[in-house]
Amino acid sequence: MPEDETTATSGIVHENAQPLVAANDSHSDYEDDASVASSTQSLTDSIRDHIYENGRRYHRKSEHYLMPSDETEQDRLDMAHHLQLLILGGALHMAPVPPNPPNVLDVGTGTGIWALDFGELHQGSAVIGVDQMPIQTTWTWPNVKFEVDDIEKEWTWKKNKFDFIHMRHLATSIRNWPYLFQQMYDHAAPGAWVEISEHTLDELYCDDGSVPEDSIFRRYMRTLGLSVTKAGAHGYLHGRDYKRMLLEAGFVDVTIYTFKVPCGGWPKSRRFKDIGRWCAEALKTGLEAYGLALMTRYGLTEMDARELVNGSMEAMRLGKEHGYYIQYQVVGRKPRADEVAV
Ligand SMILES: C[S@@+](CC[C@H](N)C(=O)[O-])C[C@H]1O[C@@H](n2cnc3c(N)ncnc32)[C@H](O)[C@@H]1O
Repeated sequence: MPEDETTATSGIVHENAQPLVAANDSHSDYEDDASVASSTQSLTDSIRDHIYENGRRYHRKSEHYLMPSDETEQDRLDMAHHLQLLILGGALHMAPVPPNPPNVLDVGTGTGIWALDFGELHQGSAVIGVDQMPIQTTWTWPNVKFEVDDIEKEWTWKKNKFDFIHMRHLATSIRNWPYLFQQMYDHAAPGAWVEISEHTLDELYCDDGSVPEDSIFRRYMRTLGLSVTKAGAHGYLHGRDYKRMLLEAGFVDVTIYTFKVPCGGWPKSRRFKDIGRWCAEALKTGLEAYGLALMTRYGLTEMDARELVNGSMEAMRLGKEHGYYIQYQVVGRKPRADEVAV
C-alpha cells in the first residue's frame, strides 16, 4: 500500500504531486449538441473496424486504447462491473447524488452496464453513456442512450448540463487528464457531483510479505505500469493524483475512497474472499486484456508477455501470494453558483 493512503474502505489523501501533462489541442469530431445524430452517422462504418493482434480483436479507431473489444472482453467488463458492486457494497457510486439527478453522463461507458443500472434505479434521470467504441447493447431503457465519441476531444454537450458525471476504468487510455477534468468541470451543472473510479496499474501490493520481490505477478504489474506510461498514458496514478487534478480543475469537497482488492480467494474474511474470487475470475482474461497489446508494443515479445500473464494466473491459482491492487473512488463537487466568488 502506498504511504499515506488508508487501508480501510475510506480515506482522504493529500499530496502535492507534479502536473502530469501539457495543454491539449484536440477538437471533437462533432460540432454541437444538435449535430450528434448526423455526426454519429458520419463516423460511417469505420467505427466498427477492427484489427487482430495476439489472438485478440482490437478496435482500429481507438488509437490510444490498447485493450480488446471482443466478446471475451465485453464479458470481462460485465464481470468487472459485478466485482465493482461487491467492492462498493452493492452501490453504483459513492457520490451523494440526489434521488433523480436530471442529466447523468457515464464517460467511457464500455458495454453500458453502469449506465443501464443507473438508469434503471433512477428512472427520473436521463443518462448518456459515451464511448469511442459501439459495443453497447442495442436494447436500452427509455431514459438511457449511448453515443459514440472520443472524450479526449472537445465535448459538444451543453456547458453546465450534467448533474452527475461518472467515469470508470479508463486509466490505460487517457493522455491529458487535466484537460478531461476541465471539460468535466465545464459541462457539470453548478453543484453537480463527479466520480472517478480507477485502480492502480503499477504494483502488486502485499501486507504480509507473501509476495516475493521477484514474484512473476509483481513483475507483471510493474511491467504493466511501465508499458502504460511508455504508451503515453499514466501508469503510476494514485487516488491523490486524481484528487489534485480535480481540485485544480475547480472541484471542491474532493474525497478519496480507497479499497483493497485481493487478487484471489486467499483472504480469511468472507467478504474479501468473495471479492478476491471474483477478482481472480475477471483477471483470467483481464491479465491478457490489460497486458498483451501494451507489453508487446512497448518492449516484450509475445512469448515473454504471455509468460508474465500465465505465471501470474498460476500464482493466483496457487493462492500463496497474498497480493492486492487498490481501487479508488474519487468524488468531487462543482461549486454552486452562490459559492463562486464574483
Ligand atoms: C476498461 S473499459 C471500462 C468500461 C466501463 N467504464 C466500465 O467500467 O464497465 C474502458 C472503456 O473506455 C473507453 N475509452 C477509452 N478511451 C476513450 C476515449 N478517448 N473516448 C471514449 N471512450 C474511451 C474504451 O473504449 C472502453 O470501452
